Formats: sequence, structure tokens, C-alpha cells
Amino acid sequence: MEEIPGPPDLKADVHPSRRFQERLLRNPEDHEAWLGLQLSYERMAGEWRSWTDEQYGYDLPVREGLRRARPARWAVEICCGTGEATAAVAEAVPTVVACDLNPEMIRRRVEVPGVCWMVADVRALPLATARVPLVVSLNGVFNPSEIARVVEPGGQLLWCTSFRSGTPLYVLPDRMRRLLGSGWAVEGGHAGHGEWTLFTAPDM
Ligand SMILES: C[S@@+](CC[C@H](N)C(=O)[O-])C[C@H]1O[C@@H](n2cnc3c(N)ncnc32)[C@H](O)[C@@H]1O
Repeated sequence: MEEIPGPPDLKADVHPSRRFQERLLRNPEDHEAWLGLQLSYERMAGEWRSWTDEQYGYDLPVREGLRRARPARWAVEICCGTGEATAAVAEAVPTVVACDLNPEMIRRRVEVPGVCWMVADVRALPLATARVPLVVSLNGVFNPSEIARVVEPGGQLLWCTSFRSGTPLYVLPDRMRRLLGSGWAVEGGHAGHGEWTLFTAPDM
């Protein structure tokens, strides 16, 4: 039997991304923390794909979560990076918009036919209010107010990490649910070394 490699030790508890994400959850107006995150991923853009390609089951949580999600007409993937999860989203949903703040990440993307790629900031997504049936992210930056703004009533958010709490940007699912606001339902599970959490927005 083939041996499954273990998850990488990213020192997530003391990782700068964890500290910046924590600061943003407490104060979404912390511009220094937003900039810190932006700059750290800018520095990693060149090697991102070669590093993610080496990881076992990197996108498995997205694939598993999508199996549980309701059929969606279209989806937005936020913090897509080089598109490591985008093929999985495009296999499950007819129309996909994948976005990231970092143009270099997008320039170095995995090609996925039919996907619309966009540079966009999770602080202010260029999307109308309450119109998105499904938002997906793998190892993304969690900005609850903007996600809650764009998801349509009864729509869903699939939030995934590749290494559970070993992921630098990890936020506990229950905390995410509280931050999204009242009435969101939640279910979740594990896949590969990671975790998927599917949130369903309240129906109006
Ligand atoms: C941990 S990486 C995840 C990338 C990809 N989803 C993956 O799992 O390989 C986090 C991503 O968030 C992006 N990011 C950081 N700040 C952002 C912001 N304010 N708006 C949108 N994307 C941002 C970074 O450029 C980076 O690509």
C-alpha cells in the first residue's frame, strides 16, 4: 500500500498569517494587518504552485465539501491563489469566477477552461449584494462581513483548509459561524489532511 505523506509543519500557531487573520477578526479596519497578509503572499507567489503541488490531497476538502453543497448556478472562489482548488469548483459548478488580490498568483495559475479569473480584494468584492449562490475558498482570508453581504438568501459558503488547524489562516468553524451573523447553518467534515465547512445562509 502506498504511504500517505503527513501534513507539513507550517508552525501555524505562531505563523504571521495567523496573527494577521486574528487581528482582522477583531478589527476588520486594521489596515496594517491587511497589508501584512498581502505582502507575505506576494513574496510567496513565485514558489506557490511548486509547493502546493507537493502536498498530499491539497484540494480534497473542496472536492468533499462540493459533494455536500446544493447545486449552484454559479460560484465565486475567493483567495484562489494559483487556482489549486479551481478545477474542483469548475467540475461541480457550471460557471466559476475565481479571484485573488495578487495578480502574480493569478498569472501563474493552473489553467482551467471556462473560468473567469479576476483580481479582487475580499475587503470589497466587485459583486452585487445578495446575488451569489455559492462562495468557495481554500486556505483563504476570512472576511465575514463581505461574504455575508454577497451570498444570496439560502446560498452557501464552502470554507476549506488543507491542513485543518495546521493551516496558518485557520479559523474555528464555530467562530466563523458566529461572525457570519445569525441564522447560518453549518456542517462540516475532514478530507485528506484538511477540513471543509459548509455554511448555509438564512432564507429571507
Ligand atoms: C494561503 S493562500 C491560498 C491560495 C489558494 N487558495 C491555495 O489554497 O493554494 C491565501 C491567498 O489569499 C490571497 N489574499 C491575501 N489577501 C487578500 C485580500 N485582501 N483579498 C483577496 N485575496 C487575498 C493571497 O494573495 C493568497 O493567494
